[in-house]
Amino acid sequence: MRTFLLLLVMAAAAGGRPRCGGVLTAARGILQTPGFPAELPVPIHCEWVIDAQNLASPNTSIVVYLTQLYVHEGLSFTEYQVYDKTYQLDGRVIHTVNETNVVQVRWVQSFQNFLVITLKLDSIDSAHLRVLDRFLDVYGFNITYEVARGPVRTDSCTIMDCGFTGICYDHYTYV
Ligand SMILES: *[C@@H]1O[C@H](CO)[C@@H](O)[C@H](O)[C@H]1NC(C)=O
Ligand SMILES: *[C@@H]1O[C@H](CO)[C@@H](O)[C@H](O)[C@H]1NC(C)=O
Ligand SMILES: *[C@@H]1O[C@H](CO)[C@@H](O)[C@H](O)[C@H]1NC(C)=O
Repeated sequence: MRTFLLLLVMAAAAGGRPRCGGVLTAARGILQTPGFPAELPVPIHCEWVIDAQNLASPNTSIVVYLTQLYVHEGLSFTEYQVYDKTYQLDGRVIHTVNETNVVQVRWVQSFQNFLVITLKLDSIDSAHLRVLDRFLDVYGFNITYEVARGPVRTDSCTIMDCGFTGICYDHYTYV
């Protein structure tokens, strides 16, 4: 047991950072910073790829609902027609979170096959909305996405609705 724990500690030290990001092919899911709502390890560089190519049909879109978003730096959304390690086609940045729009934009929608969300932060100091005291501190984000036809759902809440002090959950059941 002790050896196992030691190995874990060594692996964490060697790897330097927890796992983050990944490729998401399900019709809905959650994008979360490591250990949310705890403080992020920085520097951090995560990439989430929402791959909707097998779900795509006419009028299908990828919508990311910015429900619990507390970071206003280093986070951007880029859509692609094709996205893999060796080949990328038609990349277009459709949203970059900043200090102003973080409290205005409720969702990001793409009609392309791929939506790539990148988080790149070198330091934690200035990048966060809610670092009040050590009980209310919230870091990073916990946001949901959905690949679906039809209009964007308007029942999702954001931190604007919660006045920054409450906790905002998506109504949808993510299973
Ligand atoms: C896609 O949306 C357009 C406009 O809302 C509609 O006219 C069309 O019938 C839809 N196509 C499909 C396959 O649902
Ligand atoms: C924030 O982003 C919006 C677009 O979402 C842009 O219009 C605005 O100029 C940006 N503000 C700053 C301070 O960069
Ligand atoms: C993250 O978001 C999901 C969906 O809104 C929610 O069910 C879950 O409780 C949230 N996790 C935390 C730690 O707030």
